[in-house]
Amino acid sequence: MSLIMKLPGIMDESRKSYEGIMAAEDSGRYILKELAGKSSETPERSSNILARGDNLSFMKFLMSDKGLDGKIKLIYIDPPFFTKTQYGSEIKLRSDKVQTIPVIKQKAYSDTWEQGMEDYLKMLAVRLMLMKDLLADDGSIFVHLDWHAVHYVKILMDEIFGEKNFINEIIWHYKSGGVSKRHFARKHDTLLFYSKTDKYYFVPRQEKSYNRGYKPYRFKGVREYRDELGWYTMVNRKDVWQLDMVGRTSAERTGYVTQKPETLIERILESCSEDGDLCADFFGGSGTMAAAADRMGRRWISCDIGKLAAISSHKRLIGAGAVYSLYDEACEKPAEEEKGSVEADISLKPDPISDKLLLKIELTGYRPHSLDLLPIDEKYFPVIKRIMAKDPLQLVAYWSVDCHFDGNINRPDAYFCKDSDGIKALYESIGSSFGPVLIKVVDIFGNVGILNAEI
Ligand SMILES: C[S@@+](CC[C@H](N)C(=O)[O-])C[C@H]1O[C@@H](n2cnc3c(N)ncnc32)[C@H](O)[C@@H]1O
Repeated sequence: MSLIMKLPGIMDESRKSYEGIMAAEDSGRYILKELAGKSSETPERSSNILARGDNLSFMKFLMSDKGLDGKIKLIYIDPPFFTKTQYGSEIKLRSDKVQTIPVIKQKAYSDTWEQGMEDYLKMLAVRLMLMKDLLADDGSIFVHLDWHAVHYVKILMDEIFGEKNFINEIIWHYKSGGVSKRHFARKHDTLLFYSKTDKYYFVPRQEKSYNRGYKPYRFKGVREYRDELGWYTMVNRKDVWQLDMVGRTSAERTGYVTQKPETLIERILESCSEDGDLCADFFGGSGTMAAAADRMGRRWISCDIGKLAAISSHKRLIGAGAVYSLYDEACEKPAEEEKGSVEADISLKPDPISDKLLLKIELTGYRPHSLDLLPIDEKYFPVIKRIMAKDPLQLVAYWSVDCHFDGNINRPDAYFCKDSDGIKALYESIGSSFGPVLIKVVDIFGNVGILNAEI
């Protein structure tokens, strides 16, 4: 049967799944793991959320536990594109103590579908139904895709959001990527922009439109400007956007394989949301939407199922000084691979120059629980073993210290993220009282190690 003939069945099945999820009592359980950001900014009061888990159960959680149905002003999603590809990431480690470390390839996420397009469309349709419930009446949604699936998803969107709420098809044109001798070079993605109702919020923004030949027109009543290219007028932004992909040397580059540029999201945020509005990305990857939203004074929610996405986005948002709650999908028992072991020297002594106490913590070691569970090929095991023996902190993506752990939620007083110079291993703090201390280490594969110390 052709795919077009299967579409009604795909919609029926997706609607049944949606109804099942909405009716179930325990389909969205998430646990608050960490309140991230400067403690002086009281993360408890921030409504920003970074979550790791399947967005299906997460969206249900947002409705049933957080009461967010009808509250989100803007949803941007950049789901897998149906490329039939396993995406990986490259880890480049450098150590004075371990020679010749190869570039390590690790799995990021998979965009492969057993039953092909049918499977893919069912995955997306049920999620789009939940997104519609979460959207405010004046809200809008952007679905970022490319030639692989956009034409079928447009039909699903018409069905779920209504043809009359289709606002724009935005073409994002870029220069990077490959070419082929068999077809024109594929150099654009498509963003489908739908509103929930006709009361949607939208502020047109302006852009430069260069005059023909870059020469002045001198029409009466038309303001013209000039820059180094030539003469232009200002017009309402059009639906074809020429923007560069994130470059290799760009400051915003996280290394996450399908990272999108913040400039793209900024355009969406500035037209479809205002200061303080709640914006969400349910296929958050490296946290591009969250980072742009945070910088622009929006409240945000970002969710991704992958561990690598969790490390990239958490590191990025801590680095940006964001304040947020970190949630994890509740599971009966923590996965084995999450139990890395942490070693640290901890001392608490009177401070020599004040009447307070000096807490010193030096991170001295880290071991992932088991090599077999790492998302890498076993050909890398010998080099990982050498690193574990000689320079284990190379495996640490970031670590944090909570000096007054309440036994439940991690509220780090300090974070240390790995950069091109390595990672800082010493934490020092002066204060009147400390303890218990929680040290949390996240390794480059996304595994977590915890050290809980009474002092
Ligand atoms: C194209 S990437 C998003 C990239 C992101 N826009 C960025 O700039 O980094 C798609 C993401 O969807 C995530 N994903 C796939 N299925 C998911 C699901 N069911 N729930 C949450 N995230 C999912 C993948 O792990 C992947 O990170």
